[in-house]
Amino acid sequence: MAATSASLVSQLYIGLRRPCPKLDSFNSPSFSAFDPNLRLSLSPPKPSRAIVAMAGSGKFFVGGNWKCNGTKDSISKLVADLNSAKLEPDVDVVVAPPFLYIDQVKNSLTDRIEISAQNSWVGKGGAFTGEISAEQLKDLGCKWVVLGHSERRHIIGENDEFIGKKAAYALSQGLGVIACIGELLEEREAGKTFDVCFKQLKAYADAVPSWDNIVIAYEPVWAIGTGKVATPQQAQEVHVAVRDWLKKNVSEEVASKTRIIYGGSVNGGNSAELAKEEDIDGFLVGGASLKGPEFATIVNSVTSKKVTA
Ligand code: PGA
Repeated sequence: MAATSASLVSQLYIGLRRPCPKLDSFNSPSFSAFDPNLRLSLSPPKPSRAIVAMAGSGKFFVGGNWKCNGTKDSISKLVADLNSAKLEPDVDVVVAPPFLYIDQVKNSLTDRIEISAQNSWVGKGGAFTGEISAEQLKDLGCKWVVLGHSERRHIIGENDEFIGKKAAYALSQGLGVIACIGELLEEREAGKTFDVCFKQLKAYADAVPSWDNIVIAYEPVWAIGTGKVATPQQAQEVHVAVRDWLKKNVSEEVASKTRIIYGGSVNGGNSAELAKEEDIDGFLVGGASLKGPEFATIVNSVTSKKVTA
């Protein structure tokens, strides 16, 4: 099949990066484990006219987490706005409606956008009142599930081990997992950001057989729903550390392929600046994903990755 010029161009963009990377400097003691040569060894610069500021080789990924919001009416309006939005082709786009509305969304939303659940049960369905199984999500046409979100960790009380098991089970049923990690404000202030993120990553790594269908969402808890977005440098610093952790603890290939997306007060006004960072491979968006045109702006911020050599 002949490739369209648009897809050829988007292939050019994937995995390329600026030829002269500026290595970030780190103050945290956790950075004794950081390998500054990683950036060069992961994806050496390739000659190209139009290149992208991307350290990983995965496609840009934007998810909309609708959380516990919406009614039948407001969701049909949101779906209509998404159906008419113009979305850049070189982005994986996913929305996560509340369980109750997944079927409505699946039956009305364009196939261009995939559907995620916001949670799933830790094993096979059965006598688990109030839970929804991965098999049921597959049955409704879900491709993804968000796991380890900070609202489930810190409000509902899910722990690392339970979240790891959920991820393993969801993967075993053919769902992709948007695996969230992130530190509380007091943990950041105590200099524990990397320790917390690495511990949460390890719990996933200990449980899952493969990282092929996992997208990591770094969501600092202090930035979620607060309007206090991480600066591009703060986000980039953690994304580099996560990629380095994957390289050291899983494999170089997984470190390169796995999308590491940022979440926490992303909106149509700040997504372009964040997207320019080499290790930010997309976004997980809460509040701003409830507005179709603004969500489309965030999806299309992939264009700010395209820079001229
Ligand atoms: P927010 O939520 O964009 O409203 O901060 C992000 C998230 O929780 O995924």
